[in-house]
Amino acid sequence: MGTNPTDLQSNQSNSSALKQLASVIVLRCVECASLYPGVSDQPRYRCDCGGVLDVEAKIHHPTQQEPALQVRFEALTASESDVWPLAGIKWRQLFDKRSAQSPTWSINIDQQLPDKSGVWRYREMILPIPEQYIVSRPEGNTGLYPVGRENCGNHRAGHRQIGRYAGLDHLFLKHEGENPTGSFKDRGMTVGVTMANLLGARAVACASTGNTSASLASYAAQLGLPCIVFLPATHVARGKLAQSLAYSATTIQIEGDFDNAMRLVEQACNELDIYLLNSLNPFRIEGQKAIGFELLQQLDWEAPDWLVLPAGNLGNTSAIGKAFRQAYQLGLIAHMPRIAAIQASGANPFFRSFMNGFSRREHVQAQTIATAIKIGDPVSYSRARQAIEESNGIVEEVTDEEILAAKSVIDRSGIGCEPASAATLAGAHKLVERGIIKREERVVGILTGNLLKDSQTGIPQDKQDNAITANITAVKRALANKISL
Ligand code: F0G
Repeated sequence: MGTNPTDLQSNQSNSSALKQLASVIVLRCVECASLYPGVSDQPRYRCDCGGVLDVEAKIHHPTQQEPALQVRFEALTASESDVWPLAGIKWRQLFDKRSAQSPTWSINIDQQLPDKSGVWRYREMILPIPEQYIVSRPEGNTGLYPVGRENCGNHRAGHRQIGRYAGLDHLFLKHEGENPTGSFKDRGMTVGVTMANLLGARAVACASTGNTSASLASYAAQLGLPCIVFLPATHVARGKLAQSLAYSATTIQIEGDFDNAMRLVEQACNELDIYLLNSLNPFRIEGQKAIGFELLQQLDWEAPDWLVLPAGNLGNTSAIGKAFRQAYQLGLIAHMPRIAAIQASGANPFFRSFMNGFSRREHVQAQTIATAIKIGDPVSYSRARQAIEESNGIVEEVTDEEILAAKSVIDRSGIGCEPASAATLAGAHKLVERGIIKREERVVGILTGNLLKDSQTGIPQDKQDNAITANITAVKRALANKISL
């Protein structure tokens, strides 16, 4: 990796941290199981066979010398006897103590407060590195809204309409749009940019449908690190593009779609010695696992029956699947939730592969109003396939009309989300109608992005410009159908 010559001294201290990290992690190919060092001079994003890589770590509880578990990607191999007795209780105590005691903010810029990040609170399961390298906003700590017909508060008719729409008694929505840059991407990015920091990267880059780039631009700017984002021209929602520009990333718009941009950024990073921070980078996935840990903690470690989420490049499906597997293996939860990955029907390669029993990997020319998930050749296909198979999960598709209908329910409940996020509710609704998710089952849905990311799609534009005369008669006329006068 290229280094900045003014940073020679700090790089010497990096090398001991890197050595320490290399002793506890390796990278394993998801396709052929080949192993590679966890850290090396030249970052590696793929196996020689072309497969994507997964981080395998020895997970240590702070009070244990021996690893509590050496986690392998492939299978749920841990039986109770493999796991340190009482492991689940000890882990739960550790994370609950950190949540309870974490100070609200730091008044000293040199003082890291990893416990207050909803990612680094679970650091033993994420990335064991010295705290001084962590680059955090902090992120996470997002709301988990009870919105089912039964678990919604008595006076919350607005929220309960979501449960009614889904047809579910016990539904929770976890709003990842409440992260610092407005999407779940911040959870992977705090870990990815921390790795860039540790490796002494000279620049970072990603391809994006808009949220990854906004997040990377923000975290890189915190370090003063050059950041280059490749965006599919005309396919990125305005709010997201504005973020990358404002955070001063070099923004390159590519003719073509996200899949073209993705291929190009991988080539550019390999040829130009730039650190790649798409979810092809396995450390991003490690950070995104924290969505899973945090929601389990918010549910007092009572695993839900189902986890429903939108699926595009499939990083999130992979990450949450891995989090559940590790939580189960370590005894944090008693059973694995089933995962339902929801695709837009015009951008549904994963759904098509699921329908053919994963016998063939499908590609499509993607088309959907949900630009965040407008992806025809998802990078994390193999990882996500494992998450679906291992959790006895399912892949569903929903039309743009179904996405917009679900979005309007979430928006008018006061919670709000960007279009791709609404695939979660549209998918839950469909799976309940099909009898796959049962009405009485406990379901968590992930809302992945903030409403303000895309303030055009599905939001009534005609109501924005119709000003009235400034007198009480005009006000009464405007309110005639809204309240009794
Ligand atoms: N929802 C939102 C709001 C997203 O931005 C994305 C992905 C997804 C869902 C799908 O998640 O790719 O992990 O399956 N956005 C990426 C980006 C591709 O570049 O911002 P996934």
